[in-house]
Amino acid sequence: MTTNAPRKVIYDTDPGVDDAMALYFALAHPGIDIIGITTTFGNVAVEQAAINALYLTAITKRNIPVTRGVGTPWVKPGEAPPDFIHGADGLGNLPNRSATSNTLDPRASAQFIVDMARAHPGEITLVAVGPLGNLSLALKLAPELPSLLREVIIMGGTVDEPGNVSPVAEANIWNDPHAADAVFTAPWKLTMVGLDVTHRVVTELALFKKIADHHGHIATDTLHHAVAFYATFYSGLHKHLALNPGCFAHDLLAFIYLVSPDLFKLESGCIRVATDGIAQGQTMLNRRNYIDYPQAGWGRHLPLTDVCMQVDSAGCLALFEDTLMSNWLNA
Ligand code: BDR
Ligand code: CA
Repeated sequence: MTTNAPRKVIYDTDPGVDDAMALYFALAHPGIDIIGITTTFGNVAVEQAAINALYLTAITKRNIPVTRGVGTPWVKPGEAPPDFIHGADGLGNLPNRSATSNTLDPRASAQFIVDMARAHPGEITLVAVGPLGNLSLALKLAPELPSLLREVIIMGGTVDEPGNVSPVAEANIWNDPHAADAVFTAPWKLTMVGLDVTHRVVTELALFKKIADHHGHIATDTLHHAVAFYATFYSGLHKHLALNPGCFAHDLLAFIYLVSPDLFKLESGCIRVATDGIAQGQTMLNRRNYIDYPQAGWGRHLPLTDVCMQVDSAGCLALFEDTLMSNWLNA
């Protein structure tokens, strides 16, 4: 039986400016029901990620469970977060924060994922937009997790598009390549939303000003401030963004895929992650699954990932604008 009930989602995130943009899209969209936010290190330390998730939800008057998760990569040493991209606080260095009272759920993120998946078998979609340590730890705690989740959508990786932390690696995968490889080789319904599509969709700073002016609300003012900082970083990096300030919509596209998969074209194949060496963090797609390669690690039995390779950028931007301009902050 199919229903039009909103999709139950656990949002695994390292907020982070584009993580915040994605969160507000999800909260504003009637087809998405965020039932928990599990935080991880990445754009900021995990403690700050949890503080930001609590703050971003509290100022929209939502009280959604927020957990703290892994604070370092699984195998390789951790590194300082990129404060020059997201700000030292992850939200573009907010000049001040209002007092809020939402508090942390005491469970670790991985345990929360397992508990919720067991409580709602087959119902939960996990949208993961940071390094994948929480999900890989949840897999270790509950190897049956792939059969309990409805599907997993990740923002991370790249196939044809150059990387953003090395010529071949995308940041989320590079931050914890061992965890990512464990996720790509587990048997869930898995979709990868990577740089092949996120670098095709630019959200302009002017749009966030329009949204903030329309609502006159602390949540959209906060988002506008954060995006202004983030857009400054991208303007220094890419000529087309220097002319018209804006930023790539990375994490947002994971949620847009969830509600409007028709906006994307996919390719299916096994993904493995390079865990060491100069290619560390590269997501390698086997496009010839009919060949029984003799090299270890590429057996034809491996699970397949649906990889987003093309996107209708205008369609995504229209959906984002319509959703954020709706009445979601007063509902
Ligand atoms: C990804 O890395 C993070 O900086 C962003 O939040 C996004 O999840 C893009 O490579
Ligand atoms: Ca992120």
